[in-house]
Amino acid sequence: MALLWLLLVTLPELAIAAVVAVGTAGVATGSLTLGTVVASVTVLTYLIWPVATLGWLLAEASNSAAAGARYWEVRDLVPSIVDPPHPRALPDPVRGEVELRGVRFAHPVDDGGPAPEVLRGVDLLVRPGETLALVGATGSGKTTLTALVARLQDVTAGSVTIDGVDVRDLRLADLRTAVATAFEDPVLISASVRENVALGSPRLPDEAVREALRVASADGFVAGLPWGLDTRIGEQGMSLSGGQRQRLALARAVVGHPPVLVLDDPLSALDVHTEAEVEAALRRVLGGVTALVVAHRPSTVQLADRVAVLADGRILAVGTHQHLLATEPAYRALLASPDERSQVQA
Ligand SMILES: Nc1ncnc2c1ncn2[C@@H]1O[C@H](COP(=O)(O)OP(=O)(O)OP(=O)(O)O)[C@@H](O)[C@H]1O
Ligand SMILES: [Mg+2]
Repeated sequence: MALLWLLLVTLPELAIAAVVAVGTAGVATGSLTLGTVVASVTVLTYLIWPVATLGWLLAEASNSAAAGARYWEVRDLVPSIVDPPHPRALPDPVRGEVELRGVRFAHPVDDGGPAPEVLRGVDLLVRPGETLALVGATGSGKTTLTALVARLQDVTAGSVTIDGVDVRDLRLADLRTAVATAFEDPVLISASVRENVALGSPRLPDEAVREALRVASADGFVAGLPWGLDTRIGEQGMSLSGGQRQRLALARAVVGHPPVLVLDDPLSALDVHTEAEVEAALRRVLGGVTALVVAHRPSTVQLADRVAVLADGRILAVGTHQHLLATEPAYRALLASPDERSQVQA
């Protein structure tokens, strides 16, 4: 494009310069009349704009072709996760018991070869109203597991149930009203803060959005944005820091007061001070709901009633933080704070 523009802009100017130079010489020697030279320059200036436009059109055409191909690629995609033909309903109110039974999962591979299994028989029960922390080494499949609850991926074998109903038997809209998810690397759309938080329910009153932002301790930095709730963020707007994005994703998750919350390391990008703030707020939110929280830090684990350790595609152990510290060396290696480690050794 840059090269094309360079040519489009300089060539006509060079042509005019050449005509003026040749014309001057011609008039001086008497082989050209002044009128001919002036006419040539005039015609050239008339031609420059249409020719430049044509070049610009050519350049745009290649852009449009690429964008069009991408658009149809997305539009032609047939979603594999769809509403069941005979949907069942969740009990009302939803109790929020989440159970994974014999869950196996392998990420689909492009070349059709055998896919390595990330989860190999996960059995896990999150009791209604309980906060369960999920810990495991990096790459052990925690994010993969959390994606199965809201059916962002379907299990390869086994089942995920909410209040005893298989998630595959629920309408997607019902499932995702009951289960809200916030991911470690949240996706913000190019829209206002309000639209990003109230994603999917545009009629939500401002007060509800502000309340969710307060819960996620995002109200402070949002108030500092140039247009508050109306500030455009995301791809074409203000760029936010990782921690700010995480807090918006958290606000988005809690805004609908879902009975089940799935949080994939929601505090990983926060500094210690902000983390404590968000944790205090989270503690209030987690009070009434069932929560599955992926945790890397001991401080996040403290929020949980019980902790499950994921290793080798299975749940290695479930118990309280103190119990696991005392009984599971693998857990100790992952999560014990330095003074807890010395306590256990002592
Ligand atoms: N989209 C994908 N396609 C193929 N393989 C994937 C995909 N996403 C993750 N994996 C693989 O699945 C395994 C588990 O990944 P996952 O993201 O669940 O780990 P994690 O426990 O969340 O790690 P972390 O603590 O670093 O977030 C990894 O080996 C990873 O390479
Ligand atoms: Mg992860």
